Amino acid sequence: MLVSAKEMLQKAKAGHYAVGQFNINNLEWTKAILLTAEELRSPVILGVSEGAGKYMCGFKTVVGMVNAMLEELKITVPVALHLDHGTYDGCYKCVEAGFSSIMFDGSHYPIEENVAKTKELVEVARKHGMSIEAEVGAIGGEEDGVIGKGECADPQECKKIADLGVDMLAAGIGNIHGKYPANWEGLSFETLDAIQQLTGEMPLVLHGGTGIPDDMIKKAISLGVAKINVNTECQLSFAAATRKYIEEGKDNQGKGYDPRKLLAPGFEAIKQTVKEKMELFGSVGKAE
Ligand code: 13P
Repeated sequence: MLVSAKEMLQKAKAGHYAVGQFNINNLEWTKAILLTAEELRSPVILGVSEGAGKYMCGFKTVVGMVNAMLEELKITVPVALHLDHGTYDGCYKCVEAGFSSIMFDGSHYPIEENVAKTKELVEVARKHGMSIEAEVGAIGGEEDGVIGKGECADPQECKKIADLGVDMLAAGIGNIHGKYPANWEGLSFETLDAIQQLTGEMPLVLHGGTGIPDDMIKKAISLGVAKINVNTECQLSFAAATRKYIEEGKDNQGKGYDPRKLLAPGFEAIKQTVKEKMELFGSVGKAE
């Protein structure tokens, strides 16, 4: 059964580790992430952007697939199904579809409007026993057509949003989605520290987990980050493994073109990436 992300993130914050949010795109992605979480006894959050939800035929299809997989793969670790960078309307659609967690990304609105809309959605999430993430300070880079500049959030604004009763807070600290450019200046730990001082127990969320050096990830966790989002890295490892299979001509050997064979190396590559991230984030064995 899907669970809200609230409890797993409170435990992570108190235990100084982070739970990974891995974005899903299709059945292979979902199965690879769930099986790895189960093998490693790690809690996990499946992230679904609005674009990926549309690609998978809509949020109801996603809920149906994930719930059935939990049952048929006999997954016993805590799993949350979370809307990633949701719009106001998207949040309502996911509540209706049966997600267990939503993110309302109001970071592009003036702060008063972000506060008002987040406040309303906190009430809705509470009513349905779901967890809710909010965002202050746009995350840079491009994800599903949503382009952010990579700002550093204003810690006072973070406090305003945290005080609304959200369960987790995404704050820009110089992180960006996708690959980091060579001239990236790194995470602003000064900003993260200031936000953590003002928001206390609030589990903080680090978006753009792909390509952040391990030492920066560990430092971010020590400063209150309890959820880390990874999307691009699974896409890169899937693509590289699939390319290798085809370049080696394996799709032309025997029945190598069978999708169950063709997609197998990419599937294993996602599992490996998820495993490495769970080990780095410290969530292995934390399902109990
Ligand atoms: P990456 O694609 O950079 O890993 O970022 C994922 C993310 O933050 C999803 O919200």
